[in-house]
Amino acid sequence: MTGWMDGQRALVVVGGGSGIGRAVVDAFLSEGAQVAVPEHDRAKVDRLAADLPKVPVVTGDATLAADNRAAVDRAVQQFGGLDVLVGCVGIFDFYRGLTELGEDEIDGAFDEIFAVNVKSHLHSVKAALPELRKSRGSVILTESTSAYYPARGGVMYVASKHAVRGLTTALAHELAPEVRVNAVAPGGTMNTDLRGADALGLSDKRLNDMPGREAELAGRVPLGIAMSGTDHAWSYVFLASRRARGITGDVVHSDGGIRIK
Ligand SMILES: NC(=O)c1ccc[n+]([C@@H]2O[C@H](COP(=O)([O-])OP(=O)(O)OC[C@H]3O[C@@H](n4cnc5c(N)ncnc54)[C@H](O)[C@@H]3O)[C@@H](O)[C@H]2O)c1
Repeated sequence: MTGWMDGQRALVVVGGGSGIGRAVVDAFLSEGAQVAVPEHDRAKVDRLAADLPKVPVVTGDATLAADNRAAVDRAVQQFGGLDVLVGCVGIFDFYRGLTELGEDEIDGAFDEIFAVNVKSHLHSVKAALPELRKSRGSVILTESTSAYYPARGGVMYVASKHAVRGLTTALAHELAPEVRVNAVAPGGTMNTDLRGADALGLSDKRLNDMPGREAELAGRVPLGIAMSGTDHAWSYVFLASRRARGITGDVVHSDGGIRIK
């Protein structure tokens, strides 16, 4: 056995069309795994199909139960089972505090941000669960430093990422001993496509287009580096590998050491 993921039959990286999810796809493939990718963005679906012709890419919305079922079915059909589910979808709120949010924006923004950042994971895990139970597989969710601290997003993003932290703990408890559930908590990340919520008129705005982002990211963490998706991807590989078979309900903080600042 040479790759960390040799022998893993199938994986679904939800939201694997860009950024951290795409880096996880590439790292899993390089470690010998077979990967299927659900993604809702048409252009990203096309790019994945062109870059990785052997990877089944399933067009669908991660917030919908039926689309998650279809993605899992496709992976199982192609690979004969499912060992790992990775959730990488997410949208941002561009640091909007409650003070800046209009009363009339709260319902729409809450529904959209919590649907994408939280509910999608419930649907993905629910769809994959029968197969993960059979394989004694594992789930890896994507948190953020926002799951631990304020000010790394606005009130809705920070609250939604705290909820992902709650999902990791609750699901790890509920699904043991058959299925391990862990998370990666990335710090601010370069070269991703993370966008704002449509309900806030921010769906065309990209976090990485903010001026001076690279220097700002490096300056905010003790290790002084601006991390990319590739820097985080190996944490997903470790948690997904059988080498982590004794770890559940836990988190890898891939964040440049922000907690010791
Ligand atoms: N970029 C950062 O600084 C940062 C830091 C910490 C955590 N995160 C988290 O990492 C994860 C990945 O974000 P990223 O920065 O790589 O952004 P990204 O936009 O590049 O990746 C998110 C992916 O999810 C897809 N997606 C969004 N909504 C979807 C839906 N409803 N159905 C299916 N696919 C959908 C997008 O098309 C995209 O491919 C998110 O959960 C984000 O909150 C990002």
